[in-house]
Amino acid sequence: MKKLMVVCALGAGLMIYACGGNESKPAEKKEEAASKKSVVDADAEKALTMIGSLDCTTCHKISEKNIGPAYTEVAKKYEATDAVITDLANKVIKGGQGVWGSVPMTPHPNLSLDSAKVMVKYILSLKNQ
Ligand code: HEC
Repeated sequence: MKKLMVVCALGAGLMIYACGGNESKPAEKKEEAASKKSVVDADAEKALTMIGSLDCTTCHKISEKNIGPAYTEVAKKYEATDAVITDLANKVIKGGQGVWGSVPMTPHPNLSLDSAKVMVKYILSLKNQ
């Protein structure tokens, strides 16, 4: 049960609905917008706490380039699809270089894929800021 909740919390926007029970469904478009928003709202705080408690802020700022790219720039570069979120989460875990320049990002091998995904999702939500 606990695992299921985590999957629901971390899953794509639509999964929130899948986990949310059988409430009456609004028109499909509305549903998509609403579920996207709720994912961001629910996870933003969690993501910020994680980002703050890890070393991310040593190299990243929200909207200015530091050692690593600004999170807002990362958000502009990528579509927030599941595949992209998984790729970027894996990169945070394994580290890497060459996308933004020759400076490498250090690996974070103790992070779970789920935690990394929460942070990446939040970062990609900064597109419009
Ligand atoms: C030692 C400095 C450093 C730390 C610490 C660091 N990063 Fe990075 N990060 C970088 C650099 C440098 C890049 C650009 C890598 C490249 O050019 O491929 C980057 C890139 C990224 C990207 C974009 C990857 C891509 O392929 O476009 C994301 C997302 C990211 N970092 C998230 C995080 C998160 C979350 C943390 C904390 C867990 C973190 N970073 C910690 C330096 C760092």
